[in-house]
Amino acid sequence: MKPGVWEYEIEAELIHEFVRNRSRGFAYGPIIASGIDSCVLHYNTNNKQCKKGDVILLDVAAEYANYGSDLTRVLPVDGKFTKRQRDVYNAVLRVFKGARKMLVKGNNIDKYNAAVGQLMEEELVKLKLLKMSDIKKQDPAFPLYKKYFMHGTSHFLGLDIHDVGFFHLPFQAGTVFTCEPGIYIPREKIGVRIENDILITDKGNVDLMESIPIEAGEIEELMNK
Ligand code: GLY
Ligand code: MN
Ligand code: MN
Repeated sequence: MKPGVWEYEIEAELIHEFVRNRSRGFAYGPIIASGIDSCVLHYNTNNKQCKKGDVILLDVAAEYANYGSDLTRVLPVDGKFTKRQRDVYNAVLRVFKGARKMLVKGNNIDKYNAAVGQLMEEELVKLKLLKMSDIKKQDPAFPLYKKYFMHGTSHFLGLDIHDVGFFHLPFQAGTVFTCEPGIYIPREKIGVRIENDILITDKGNVDLMESIPIEAGEIEELMNK
């Protein structure tokens, strides 16, 4: 990853690594979205040249032994987040970590979504994208945070990427959920989503993607090695 690289060149590197590690291919159409397209949820044309100063959102993962996986990371194209990009990144990361803790046996999707929504509201206020006074007046059926975070936080994962499962039942051990909060600000060309796959167990949960770098500093360090 560096300025001047084309999005499809990154796609090519990734499929090369997946297949040589015995994956049958991408688990779903890869999203390799630099600049403004980091804010487009299902961008998949992957045909732009990556520009210095932009972020690039990679929602790309492998299928293995017929099972899907689902991962998103955001990188600074030139190896260094701007102050604002880093602030947005860290806001999403805090929501991710808070949400991940709540993916436990016995919790349920309504409580989970409400609690994640509240974490997101706090972060959007800190980023000066929403005002607490407006949030207090909002219609709970249409929370204001949805302007910047307009998709669900979690879906079932298995043989299919958006696998079937019972959302009306409490979370059960043995289930794998994605955890994927995001903040999208088109006027600033900043879209950040962070997505890992989480296995619910009897004792809590296991982040199946724990070993994949996720801290902003870690990502910059790897890119500048
Ligand atoms: N890659 C599709 C999703 O994150 O749900
Ligand atoms: Mn997902
Ligand atoms: Mn994904």
